[in-house]
Amino acid sequence: MVISMNLKGRSFLTLMDYNAEEIEYLLDLAAELKAKKKQGITGNSLKGKNIALIFEKPSTRTRCAFTIGCIDEGAHPEYLSKDDLQLGHKESVEDTARVLGRMFDGIEFRGYHQETVEKLAKFSGVPVWNGLTDADHPTQILADFLTLKEQFGKLKGLKLVYAGDGRNNMANSLMIGSSKMGIDFTILAPKDLWPEKELVIQCEEYAKAFGSKIVITDSLDGVIGADAVYTDVWCSMGEEDKAAERIKLLKPYQVNDALMARTGKKTIFLHCLPAVKGKEVTEEVFERFAEVVFDEAENRMHTIKAVMVATLGNL
Ligand code: CP
Ligand code: NVA
Repeated sequence: MVISMNLKGRSFLTLMDYNAEEIEYLLDLAAELKAKKKQGITGNSLKGKNIALIFEKPSTRTRCAFTIGCIDEGAHPEYLSKDDLQLGHKESVEDTARVLGRMFDGIEFRGYHQETVEKLAKFSGVPVWNGLTDADHPTQILADFLTLKEQFGKLKGLKLVYAGDGRNNMANSLMIGSSKMGIDFTILAPKDLWPEKELVIQCEEYAKAFGSKIVITDSLDGVIGADAVYTDVWCSMGEEDKAAERIKLLKPYQVNDALMARTGKKTIFLHCLPAVKGKEVTEEVFERFAEVVFDEAENRMHTIKAVMVATLGNL
Protein backbone atom coordinates (compact mmCIF):
# COMPACT_ATOMS: atom_id res chain seq x y z
CA MET A 1 0.00 0.00 0.00
CA VAL A 2 1.29 3.45 -0.98
CA ILE A 3 2.19 5.65 1.99
CA SER A 4 -0.16 8.58 1.84
CA MET A 5 1.14 12.13 1.29
CA ASN A 6 -1.01 15.08 2.23
CA LEU A 7 -2.10 16.89 -0.93
CA LYS A 8 -5.60 17.66 0.42
CA GLY A 9 -7.21 20.81 -0.88
CA ARG A 10 -4.53 21.38 -3.55
CA SER A 11 -5.42 22.32 -7.10
CA PHE A 12 -3.65 20.67 -10.04
CA LEU A 13 -3.12 23.43 -12.61
CA THR A 14 0.41 22.67 -13.81
CA LEU A 15 3.20 20.31 -12.77
CA MET A 16 5.23 23.42 -11.93
CA ASP A 17 3.29 23.46 -8.63
CA TYR A 18 4.34 19.88 -7.71
CA ASN A 19 7.74 18.53 -6.69
CA ALA A 20 9.29 15.21 -7.68
CA GLU A 21 8.17 13.39 -4.51
CA GLU A 22 4.57 14.56 -4.98
CA ILE A 23 4.53 13.52 -8.65
CA GLU A 24 6.02 10.13 -7.73
CA TYR A 25 3.34 9.74 -5.06
CA LEU A 26 0.54 10.44 -7.58
CA LEU A 27 2.05 7.86 -9.95
CA ASP A 28 2.32 5.25 -7.20
CA LEU A 29 -1.24 5.93 -6.09
CA ALA A 30 -2.44 5.60 -9.70
CA ALA A 31 -0.61 2.27 -10.05
CA GLU A 32 -2.27 1.05 -6.86
CA LEU A 33 -5.74 2.18 -7.99
CA LYS A 34 -5.11 0.52 -11.37
CA ALA A 35 -4.13 -2.78 -9.77
CA LYS A 36 -7.23 -2.67 -7.55
CA LYS A 37 -9.53 -1.88 -10.46
CA LYS A 38 -8.09 -4.86 -12.37
CA GLN A 39 -9.21 -7.02 -9.43
CA GLY A 40 -12.67 -5.45 -9.53
CA ILE A 41 -12.05 -3.34 -6.43
CA THR A 42 -13.14 0.30 -6.51
CA GLY A 43 -13.23 2.73 -3.60
CA ASN A 44 -15.40 5.13 -1.71
CA SER A 45 -12.97 7.91 -1.04
CA LEU A 46 -15.02 10.54 -2.94
CA LYS A 47 -18.39 9.42 -1.51
CA GLY A 48 -20.86 12.30 -1.28
CA LYS A 49 -18.68 14.66 -3.37
CA ASN A 50 -20.03 16.56 -6.36
CA ILE A 51 -17.58 17.30 -9.15
CA ALA A 52 -18.09 19.83 -11.97
CA LEU A 53 -16.53 18.91 -15.32
CA ILE A 54 -16.28 22.05 -17.47
CA PHE A 55 -15.41 21.53 -21.14
CA GLU A 56 -14.96 24.50 -23.50
CA LYS A 57 -13.24 22.12 -25.95
CA PRO A 58 -14.15 18.55 -26.92
CA SER A 59 -12.64 15.51 -25.23
CA THR A 60 -12.86 11.73 -25.27
CA ARG A 61 -10.18 10.53 -22.83
CA THR A 62 -10.16 13.35 -20.31
CA ARG A 63 -13.92 13.58 -19.96
CA CYS A 64 -14.33 9.81 -19.67
CA ALA A 65 -11.41 9.51 -17.23
CA PHE A 66 -12.86 12.16 -14.89
CA THR A 67 -16.37 10.71 -15.16
CA ILE A 68 -15.32 7.13 -14.45
CA GLY A 69 -12.83 8.24 -11.81
CA CYS A 70 -15.64 10.01 -9.97
CA ILE A 71 -18.10 7.13 -10.22
CA ASP A 72 -15.54 4.48 -9.23
CA GLU A 73 -14.83 6.45 -6.04
CA GLY A 74 -18.44 7.29 -5.19
CA ALA A 75 -18.65 10.91 -6.43
CA HIS A 76 -21.24 12.52 -8.70
CA PRO A 77 -19.79 14.06 -11.90
CA GLU A 78 -21.68 16.89 -13.61
CA TYR A 79 -20.67 17.65 -17.22
CA LEU A 80 -20.94 21.33 -18.16
CA SER A 81 -20.18 22.22 -21.78
CA LYS A 82 -19.42 25.74 -22.98
CA ASP A 83 -23.06 26.05 -24.05
CA ASP A 84 -24.30 25.22 -20.54
CA LEU A 85 -22.38 28.05 -18.88
CA GLN A 86 -21.84 31.76 -19.52
CA LEU A 87 -18.21 31.45 -18.44
CA GLY A 88 -16.30 34.60 -19.27
CA HIS A 89 -18.95 36.19 -21.50
CA LYS A 90 -22.30 36.82 -19.76
CA GLU A 91 -20.81 36.01 -16.37
CA SER A 92 -17.25 36.66 -15.22
CA VAL A 93 -15.05 33.65 -14.52
CA GLU A 94 -14.68 34.94 -10.96
CA ASP A 95 -18.46 34.89 -10.36
CA THR A 96 -19.02 31.48 -11.97
CA ALA A 97 -16.15 30.18 -9.83
CA ARG A 98 -17.73 31.53 -6.64
CA VAL A 99 -21.08 29.94 -7.50
CA LEU A 100 -19.61 26.56 -8.40
CA GLY A 101 -17.44 26.64 -5.28
CA ARG A 102 -20.59 26.93 -3.13
CA MET A 103 -22.12 23.84 -4.75
CA PHE A 104 -19.33 21.57 -5.89
CA ASP A 105 -16.44 19.97 -4.01
CA GLY A 106 -14.06 19.97 -6.97
CA ILE A 107 -13.89 21.38 -10.51
CA GLU A 108 -12.23 20.11 -13.67
CA PHE A 109 -11.66 22.64 -16.44
CA ARG A 110 -10.69 22.14 -20.10
CA GLY A 111 -10.50 25.20 -22.31
CA TYR A 112 -8.39 27.85 -23.92
CA HIS A 113 -6.71 30.09 -21.38
CA GLN A 114 -4.48 29.00 -18.51
CA GLU A 115 -5.66 32.19 -16.78
CA THR A 116 -9.23 30.79 -16.65
CA VAL A 117 -8.22 27.66 -14.76
CA GLU A 118 -6.10 29.80 -12.42
CA LYS A 119 -9.05 32.12 -11.73
CA LEU A 120 -11.37 29.17 -11.11
CA ALA A 121 -8.93 27.87 -8.51
CA LYS A 122 -8.47 31.27 -6.89
CA PHE A 123 -12.16 32.16 -6.61
CA SER A 124 -13.96 28.83 -6.13
CA GLY A 125 -12.14 27.81 -2.95
CA VAL A 126 -12.23 24.12 -3.97
CA PRO A 127 -9.59 21.99 -5.75
CA VAL A 128 -9.48 22.71 -9.50
CA TRP A 129 -7.88 20.29 -11.96
CA ASN A 130 -6.57 21.34 -15.36
CA GLY A 131 -7.99 19.05 -18.04
CA LEU A 132 -6.02 20.92 -20.78
CA THR A 133 -5.49 24.54 -21.76
CA ASP A 134 -3.64 26.05 -24.71
CA ALA A 135 -0.54 26.18 -22.52
CA ASP A 136 -0.57 23.03 -20.39
CA HIS A 137 -1.97 19.50 -20.11
CA PRO A 138 -0.63 18.24 -16.77
CA THR A 139 -2.92 15.23 -16.21
CA GLN A 140 -1.75 13.80 -19.55
CA ILE A 141 1.84 13.79 -18.28
CA LEU A 142 0.94 11.61 -15.32
CA ALA A 143 -0.51 9.02 -17.71
CA ASP A 144 2.57 9.26 -19.93
CA PHE A 145 4.92 8.82 -16.98
CA LEU A 146 2.94 5.90 -15.52
CA THR A 147 3.25 4.26 -18.95
CA LEU A 148 7.02 4.93 -19.05
CA LYS A 149 7.36 3.42 -15.58
CA GLU A 150 5.42 0.35 -16.69
CA GLN A 151 7.69 -0.01 -19.73
CA PHE A 152 11.08 0.82 -18.20
CA GLY A 153 10.57 0.47 -14.43
CA LYS A 154 11.92 4.00 -13.87
CA LEU A 155 11.82 7.59 -15.10
CA LYS A 156 15.14 9.04 -14.03
CA GLY A 157 17.81 8.73 -16.69
CA LEU A 158 15.42 7.99 -19.58
CA LYS A 159 15.67 10.01 -22.77
CA LEU A 160 12.31 11.22 -24.06
CA VAL A 161 12.14 12.91 -27.47
CA TYR A 162 9.12 14.91 -28.58
CA ALA A 163 8.87 15.52 -32.34
CA GLY A 164 6.39 18.02 -33.74
CA ASP A 165 4.77 21.29 -32.63
CA GLY A 166 7.33 22.27 -30.01
CA ARG A 167 5.31 25.14 -28.55
CA ASN A 168 1.98 23.50 -27.86
CA ASN A 169 0.48 22.34 -24.55
CA MET A 170 1.99 18.83 -24.86
CA ALA A 171 5.52 20.03 -25.58
CA ASN A 172 5.29 22.49 -22.68
CA SER A 173 3.96 20.04 -20.14
CA LEU A 174 6.25 17.17 -21.17
CA MET A 175 9.18 19.55 -20.75
CA ILE A 176 7.98 20.64 -17.30
CA GLY A 177 7.29 17.08 -16.15
CA SER A 178 10.53 15.64 -17.54
CA SER A 179 12.64 18.35 -15.98
CA LYS A 180 10.99 17.69 -12.60
CA MET A 181 11.58 13.91 -12.79
CA GLY A 182 15.16 13.64 -14.09
CA ILE A 183 14.22 12.63 -17.64
CA ASP A 184 16.49 13.92 -20.44
CA PHE A 185 14.06 15.74 -22.70
CA THR A 186 14.53 16.80 -26.33
CA ILE A 187 12.19 18.75 -28.58
CA LEU A 188 12.68 18.15 -32.32
CA ALA A 189 10.93 21.00 -34.11
CA PRO A 190 11.53 23.70 -36.70
CA LYS A 191 12.72 26.99 -35.14
CA ASP A 192 9.35 28.66 -35.83
CA LEU A 193 7.72 26.19 -33.43
CA TRP A 194 10.14 26.22 -30.52
CA PRO A 195 8.80 26.72 -26.99
CA GLU A 196 8.97 30.07 -25.20
CA LYS A 197 12.48 30.87 -24.00
CA GLU A 198 11.27 31.72 -20.48
CA LEU A 199 9.69 28.30 -20.02
CA VAL A 200 12.83 26.57 -21.28
CA ILE A 201 14.96 28.52 -18.79
CA GLN A 202 12.57 27.60 -15.97
CA CYS A 203 12.69 23.91 -16.91
CA GLU A 204 16.49 24.00 -17.14
CA GLU A 205 16.45 25.21 -13.53
CA TYR A 206 14.27 22.24 -12.48
CA ALA A 207 16.49 19.84 -14.45
CA LYS A 208 19.61 21.00 -12.58
CA ALA A 209 18.42 19.19 -9.43
CA PHE A 210 18.92 15.85 -11.26
CA GLY A 211 21.66 16.87 -13.69
CA SER A 212 19.29 15.99 -16.56
CA LYS A 213 19.24 17.82 -19.90
CA ILE A 214 16.73 19.81 -21.92
CA VAL A 215 17.60 20.08 -25.62
CA ILE A 216 15.64 22.06 -28.22
CA THR A 217 16.84 21.36 -31.75
CA ASP A 218 15.75 21.36 -35.38
CA SER A 219 18.18 18.53 -36.21
CA LEU A 220 16.72 15.04 -36.55
CA ASP A 221 19.91 13.71 -34.95
CA GLY A 222 18.36 14.88 -31.68
CA VAL A 223 16.45 11.58 -31.70
CA ILE A 224 19.63 9.50 -31.25
CA GLY A 225 19.54 7.51 -28.02
CA ALA A 226 15.80 8.04 -27.37
CA ASP A 227 14.09 5.51 -25.11
CA ALA A 228 10.72 6.92 -26.14
CA VAL A 229 9.61 9.10 -29.07
CA TYR A 230 6.46 11.14 -28.51
CA THR A 231 4.33 13.15 -30.87
CA ASP A 232 1.05 15.05 -30.90
CA VAL A 233 -1.25 16.56 -33.54
CA TRP A 234 0.26 19.30 -35.72
CA CYS A 235 -2.80 21.53 -35.18
CA SER A 236 -4.12 21.67 -31.65
CA MET A 237 -7.80 22.33 -30.90
CA GLY A 238 -8.59 25.88 -32.01
CA GLU A 239 -5.72 26.00 -34.56
CA GLU A 240 -7.37 24.06 -37.37
CA ASP A 241 -6.95 27.04 -39.77
CA LYS A 242 -3.16 26.64 -39.55
CA ALA A 243 -3.17 23.17 -41.18
CA ALA A 244 -1.46 24.07 -44.49
CA GLU A 245 1.33 26.05 -42.83
CA ARG A 246 1.92 23.36 -40.17
CA ILE A 247 2.08 20.50 -42.69
CA LYS A 248 4.78 22.41 -44.57
CA LEU A 249 6.79 23.12 -41.42
CA LEU A 250 6.39 19.76 -39.73
CA LYS A 251 6.55 17.20 -42.53
CA PRO A 252 10.28 16.55 -41.91
CA TYR A 253 9.48 15.83 -38.25
CA GLN A 254 6.91 13.11 -38.89
CA VAL A 255 7.43 10.02 -36.71
CA ASN A 256 8.03 7.28 -39.27
CA ASP A 257 10.16 4.16 -39.54
CA ALA A 258 13.22 6.17 -40.57
CA LEU A 259 12.99 8.43 -37.49
CA MET A 260 12.41 5.47 -35.18
CA ALA A 261 15.43 3.66 -36.70
CA ARG A 262 17.58 6.77 -36.21
CA THR A 263 17.40 6.38 -32.40
CA GLY A 264 19.95 3.55 -32.70
CA LYS A 265 18.31 1.58 -29.90
CA LYS A 266 15.11 -0.16 -28.86
CA THR A 267 12.64 2.70 -28.60
CA ILE A 268 8.95 2.91 -27.82
CA PHE A 269 6.45 5.34 -29.33
CA LEU A 270 3.94 7.36 -27.33
CA HIS A 271 1.06 9.65 -28.35
CA CYS A 272 -1.42 11.51 -26.15
CA LEU A 273 -4.17 10.96 -28.79
CA PRO A 274 -6.24 11.76 -30.74
CA ALA A 275 -3.81 10.92 -33.59
CA VAL A 276 -3.96 12.04 -37.19
CA LYS A 277 -2.29 9.07 -38.85
CA GLY A 278 -0.36 9.94 -41.99
CA LYS A 279 0.50 13.35 -40.57
CA GLU A 280 2.45 13.46 -37.26
CA VAL A 281 2.88 9.64 -37.25
CA THR A 282 2.64 6.98 -39.92
CA GLU A 283 0.04 4.25 -39.67
CA GLU A 284 2.90 1.67 -39.50
CA VAL A 285 4.60 3.18 -36.47
CA PHE A 286 1.29 3.85 -34.73
CA GLU A 287 0.02 0.30 -35.18
CA ARG A 288 3.35 -1.25 -34.18
CA PHE A 289 3.08 0.53 -30.83
CA ALA A 290 -0.73 0.46 -30.49
CA GLU A 291 -0.57 -1.67 -27.34
CA VAL A 292 1.53 0.84 -25.41
CA VAL A 293 -0.35 3.85 -26.82
CA PHE A 294 -3.67 2.45 -25.63
CA ASP A 295 -2.14 1.55 -22.24
CA GLU A 296 -1.23 5.23 -22.11
CA ALA A 297 -4.84 6.18 -22.94
CA GLU A 298 -6.18 3.82 -20.26
CA ASN A 299 -3.71 5.29 -17.78
CA ARG A 300 -5.48 8.65 -18.13
CA MET A 301 -8.26 7.14 -16.02
CA HIS A 302 -6.07 5.73 -13.26
CA THR A 303 -3.92 8.86 -12.97
CA ILE A 304 -6.83 11.31 -13.05
CA LYS A 305 -8.56 9.25 -10.39
CA ALA A 306 -5.38 9.42 -8.32
CA VAL A 307 -5.29 13.23 -8.60
CA MET A 308 -8.91 13.53 -7.41
CA VAL A 309 -8.45 10.99 -4.62
CA ALA A 310 -5.23 12.62 -3.40
CA THR A 311 -6.52 16.20 -3.42
CA LEU A 312 -10.13 15.63 -2.37
CA GLY A 313 -10.66 12.06 -1.18
CA ASN A 314 -10.78 10.47 2.25
CA LEU A 315 -7.77 8.22 2.06
N1 CP B 1 -5.29 13.04 -24.64
C1 CP B 1 -6.43 13.71 -24.40
O1 CP B 1 -6.47 14.67 -23.63
O2 CP B 1 -7.51 13.26 -25.08
P1 CP B 1 -8.95 13.96 -25.15
O3 CP B 1 -8.76 15.25 -25.91
O4 CP B 1 -9.81 12.97 -25.87
O5 CP B 1 -9.41 14.23 -23.75
N1 NVA C 1 -2.19 19.54 -28.46
C1 NVA C 1 -3.46 18.84 -28.50
C2 NVA C 1 -3.56 17.91 -27.34
C3 NVA C 1 -4.77 17.03 -27.33
C4 NVA C 1 -4.82 16.11 -26.15
C5 NVA C 1 -4.59 19.84 -28.46
O1 NVA C 1 -4.54 20.79 -27.66
O2 NVA C 1 -5.53 19.71 -29.25
